[in-house]
Amino acid sequence: MNLLLLATFIILHHVFIGYSSPANPSTSDDHQLHIRKLQEFKSSFWQTKPVSSSRLYGVSLYGADPTGKTDSTDAILRAISDAVSEERVGLLMDGITNHGGVQISLEGGIYKISRPMKFPVAGVGNIVISGGTLKASQNFSTNGYLIDLTTFSSSSSNKNYNYEYITLKDIMLDCNYRGGGIRVLNSLRTSIDNCYITHFTTNGILVQGGHETYIRNSFLGQHITAGGDSHERDFSGIAINLAGNDNAVTDVVIFSAGIGIMVSGQANVITGVHCYNKATGFGGTGIYLKLPGLTQTRIVNSYFDYTGIVAEDPVQLHVSGCFFLGDAFIVLKSVHGVVKGVNIVDNMFSGSNRGIDIVQLDQKAGVFNNIDQVVVNNNNVRGMNLKATIAKLAMKGNGTLWSVDFNRILVFPRHIKFVQYTLMTQSDVFPNYVLRNISNNKVLIESNVAVEGTISVTVDQGLSI
Ligand SMILES: *[C@@H]1O[C@H](CO)[C@@H](O)[C@H](O)[C@H]1NC(C)=O
Ligand SMILES: *[C@@H]1O[C@H](CO)[C@@H](O)[C@H](O)[C@H]1NC(C)=O
Ligand SMILES: *[C@@H]1O[C@H](CO)[C@@H](O)[C@H](O)[C@H]1NC(C)=O
Repeated sequence: MNLLLLATFIILHHVFIGYSSPANPSTSDDHQLHIRKLQEFKSSFWQTKPVSSSRLYGVSLYGADPTGKTDSTDAILRAISDAVSEERVGLLMDGITNHGGVQISLEGGIYKISRPMKFPVAGVGNIVISGGTLKASQNFSTNGYLIDLTTFSSSSSNKNYNYEYITLKDIMLDCNYRGGGIRVLNSLRTSIDNCYITHFTTNGILVQGGHETYIRNSFLGQHITAGGDSHERDFSGIAINLAGNDNAVTDVVIFSAGIGIMVSGQANVITGVHCYNKATGFGGTGIYLKLPGLTQTRIVNSYFDYTGIVAEDPVQLHVSGCFFLGDAFIVLKSVHGVVKGVNIVDNMFSGSNRGIDIVQLDQKAGVFNNIDQVVVNNNNVRGMNLKATIAKLAMKGNGTLWSVDFNRILVFPRHIKFVQYTLMTQSDVFPNYVLRNISNNKVLIESNVAVEGTISVTVDQGLSI
């Protein structure tokens, strides 16, 4: 027997002896007394306060009705209020109390509520609300939100932020066509995770001010449908409205809404989103990037399913790795005629051979006249018209004039900034040939003598030098 095995044997032997020792009568009496005292303490505790020291506030102990038959507004508000009334030390941001991760559990119930769920005061943080369904009752205010991270009785000494590190997870919100799902106002580091938000009339989620609201693994739709709904034409509302900076929407499905995601702040990132909220043909938009302010938005690895992207005067916009299905396309919409720093690269577009351009300009409010560093390139198409800001064409000719028309492919009319051309000929002559004209996206090259050959031309609308 080696030493280690021997040591293990001795330890196990002792543990076994120790465990069986209540055979000793005096130890047994002490033990019984201890258990009785513990039980008395426990029952007195439960009678005075319906919560344990576990920092888990189950709403049923406050009388919330998990069957959804009677109104649970006051019960849940009391649970929330108790959860944040405990004395806590330690700060998050200056003026925001760290509640240690206290949990308000919806315990898998469906609760009818007639007023928004709010914290009684601002200036609280590190709190989790999770695990159930909230449903707006018939008298819920139509401009309200089921969970509203706004409060107007501020105890916070922090003037800039109301809340920090609030987590809303595993919650279904049924707005019952009476307003919105979640509103986050002037908050920091808010997490919305695995939520299902439906029947909203205004916004599924509205983020105003603050920064870093992270919305992930969630499902939003005004109507519960799996696509091809006969009432799709009537879908309205905005699933996610980001009127703030530095937010992220990651792995989210938007299955019905007039607009999938509205962005009017900066430095937001949208990843892995599937929009099939309302087809472009019915007037819907997947992602709408709205003025005022710089765009500064990245949209990557997302899926636009019969609904596209609209960007007003985009300044710094990146769209890549996305799949556009069902003739979905991107619109650059002029408001003051500005489009700068736009990359639409490495995407796939698929349509039904109806001649739809993958990138389109909306110049109803005035033409784009301030264009700089726009790159639409390296996209591939099936059944749609490829558009780009960089293009190459080769054509055969015989004579002294060579005109190559790029209008079919270039995004902007009359806006070639760079041309490279070369003439290949088997003729015996060595012609001089020069670039004569690039207006209207037509490149005109002239040779001094007639030649038979092929002219190759590269143009670029994106360079700013
Ligand atoms: C809403 O209706 C419920 C009953 O469903 C009632 O208890 C509650 O007081 C009403 N609230 C308002 C704000 O009218
Ligand atoms: C090119 O043009 C010349 C003169 O007009 C003509 O003689 C010749 O046949 C043409 N070549 C071709 C391939 O059309
Ligand atoms: C270039 O061509 C356009 C017609 O396409 C013409 O109006 C313009 O005068 C030409 N410019 C020059 C410099 O020849």
